[in-house]
Amino acid sequence: MRKMEEKDYNKDLKQRHSKITFQKSGLYCWETPQDFFDKLNKEFNFTLDVCANEENHKCDIYFSEEDDGLSKDWGDNICWMNPPYGNKISKWVKKAFEESNKKALVVCLLPSRTDTRWWWDYCMKGEIRFIKGRLKFKGRNTKGEMVNGPATFPSAIVVFNRK
Ligand SMILES: C[S@@+](CC[C@H](N)C(=O)[O-])C[C@H]1O[C@@H](n2cnc3c(N)ncnc32)[C@H](O)[C@@H]1O
Repeated sequence: MRKMEEKDYNKDLKQRHSKITFQKSGLYCWETPQDFFDKLNKEFNFTLDVCANEENHKCDIYFSEEDDGLSKDWGDNICWMNPPYGNKISKWVKKAFEESNKKALVVCLLPSRTDTRWWWDYCMKGEIRFIKGRLKFKGRNTKGEMVNGPATFPSAIVVFNRK
């Protein structure tokens, strides 16, 4: 049932936002607005972007889809995580939580989907900062053009501090 809901949610996103970047992995990429990231970076001084590509990485050091950030050790980095919004999002949130139980500090930009299991299993154990209003994301469309798109969902920052 939960899987069906996630699938329908993604299908709906796809239909309503055909302009937003569609990754080769089949996931949407909602790139973090630079000014939004800059404010958080002033507070945290990020050292690793755990999911990014050559074009949208927010830190000099980053993991791409080819590297597969999910399979890496995030060490003692101060990590920025704006994950791909597909059915793997729960894996990313779980990974962020687990890495913070080791040595990493992880700051996540997430859709505030308080109706999901991953929200209750992991996000509720972090520091949650709900974002007022909606973020304007950007990304490339299928023609390779950079487009801006207001989110169709509310977002939140979730901080998993080192234990
Ligand atoms: C929502 S975008 C965030 C991009 C950027 N980090 C930012 O904050 O604007 C998610 C990115 O994760 C990348 N990605 C997808 N699967 C990944 C994986 N397994 N490991 C690392 N990066 C991945 C995508 O290519 C995409 O660029």
